[in-house]
Amino acid sequence: MEFSIKSGSPEKQRSACVVVGVFEPRRLSPAAEALDKASDGFLSTVLRRGDMEGKLGKTLLIHNPQGAMADRVLLVGCGRERDISDQQYREIIGSAVTRLDETGTMEATCYLTEINVKGRDLHWKVRQTVECSREILYRADTLKTKKDDIRRPLRKLILTVPRRSDLGNGELAMREGEAIAEGVSLAKDLGNLPGNICTPAYLAKQAVSQGKKYNKLKVEILQQAQLEKLGMGSFLSVAKGSREAPHLIIAEYKGGTSKQKPVVLVGKGITFDAGGISIKPSAAMDEMKYDMCGAATVLGALTACCELELPINLVAVIPTCENLPDGAANKPGDIVTSMSGKTIEVLNTDAEGRLILCDALTYIERFSPDAVIDVATLTGACVIALGRHASGVLGNHPPLVHDLLNAGKSSGDRAWELPLWDEYQDQLKSNFADIPNIGGREGGTITAACFLSRFTKKYHWAHMDIAGTAWISGEKKGATGRPVPLLTQYLIDRCESKDKTRGKSAKSKK
Ligand code: BES
Ligand code: MN
Ligand code: ZN
Repeated sequence: MEFSIKSGSPEKQRSACVVVGVFEPRRLSPAAEALDKASDGFLSTVLRRGDMEGKLGKTLLIHNPQGAMADRVLLVGCGRERDISDQQYREIIGSAVTRLDETGTMEATCYLTEINVKGRDLHWKVRQTVECSREILYRADTLKTKKDDIRRPLRKLILTVPRRSDLGNGELAMREGEAIAEGVSLAKDLGNLPGNICTPAYLAKQAVSQGKKYNKLKVEILQQAQLEKLGMGSFLSVAKGSREAPHLIIAEYKGGTSKQKPVVLVGKGITFDAGGISIKPSAAMDEMKYDMCGAATVLGALTACCELELPINLVAVIPTCENLPDGAANKPGDIVTSMSGKTIEVLNTDAEGRLILCDALTYIERFSPDAVIDVATLTGACVIALGRHASGVLGNHPPLVHDLLNAGKSSGDRAWELPLWDEYQDQLKSNFADIPNIGGREGGTITAACFLSRFTKKYHWAHMDIAGTAWISGEKKGATGRPVPLLTQYLIDRCESKDKTRGKSAKSKK
């Protein structure tokens, strides 16, 4: 799918299809109005005959519109004009792209960017249009031998901006949207692959191939023997129950100066979580192939960052292995020694995510990070607490948490903070080791974060629990690619605030 940015009047577009909005009740958007004028009121006639009310999500395709140079006009219902929300805008784009893909148009010129969305600017609308279109056209059919291919699919979408002076802004927004969509699509592909294909070795191979693709990216894979040398007893204890070897993926992107401290992203890469000896019930256990979505989204955000060539340093670290029951697997009550030296009592082998993350979080101290964000499908409790609409965020540095929440709001990939208060730390007590790996039924997402917080004292850190947001269950089962948009937005915002401070200091020198 290809995008481009253009300005100009709708009636003059030589396009297979011009896409314009209609509001309820039967009101033309400015672009539709312009087409109507050029066609001596043809569109108003169509509306008057009652073929389209303008209801959100409805579409009407008109062939050979009079007075226009395009082959078709697609009218897209936008609902009531006032107070169109983010979600409504996404639905409008979604219905337009779905319809375009089903009709014979392989290329279209879209004027929906002119619609007012509450609190959003042109940049946001262009970016969302790109992200939404890619979302609609995404298919998880790589493993189907017969694909339900559309004969003439939508290949090119031209997005219009009101003035020539908006072209630069529009193009930047388009590039951001494409980079994010690329990252989202990688994360979805990896997430949707089954556990027998997307193994720890497969994830490592994907990271290595990303490293070959981008100049500024260097990828290193640590194997079992090296992990043993590092003393990653906690991570390795989880991997012991599986025939697949564990890997630690380290990807370093250098887009900033050598002095600039990096942002470090850590992703949970359990390629299948059967629970280990504390085995999970069988219902919907297939969905535990998604337990590597933290890893997938970290790779996705890294890809977006590489595509945009952001002027920052970014490190992605991914511990990856399987969690299976086996004669060699962790047993409840086992005590393991983490890389930090802390001993951990494994009271539940199904709380394995924190066991692999804690060693990765110790390992990354060597990068002297400016900020660390770990991303993990860590607790079922998070799905109970927040449902499927918000990722959970907890951290030891309020400004970092704040920046992540903001990035969520502006990207439309939202997160919500849960408290990481000291009182919760008391739930983590072991009679035999320094710390147990579970903290009881209450506040399960928080005590999981408390566990991680014991290993993140040396830097600014935030944890994202994406158990509820990383994939959708049921009929539309599939990975979402979340929180790639949030993470990428956070990285973009960091560059922009750096730019501003640079600007300021330059000024103050004068
Ligand atoms: N990967 C799961 C968390 C999970 C469960 C995510 C269901 C999405 C849906 C994690 O490894 C796990 O099993 N967590 C346990 C922790 C418990 C044993 C303290 C859980 O949430 O039940
Ligand atoms: Mn588990
Ligand atoms: Zn898990």
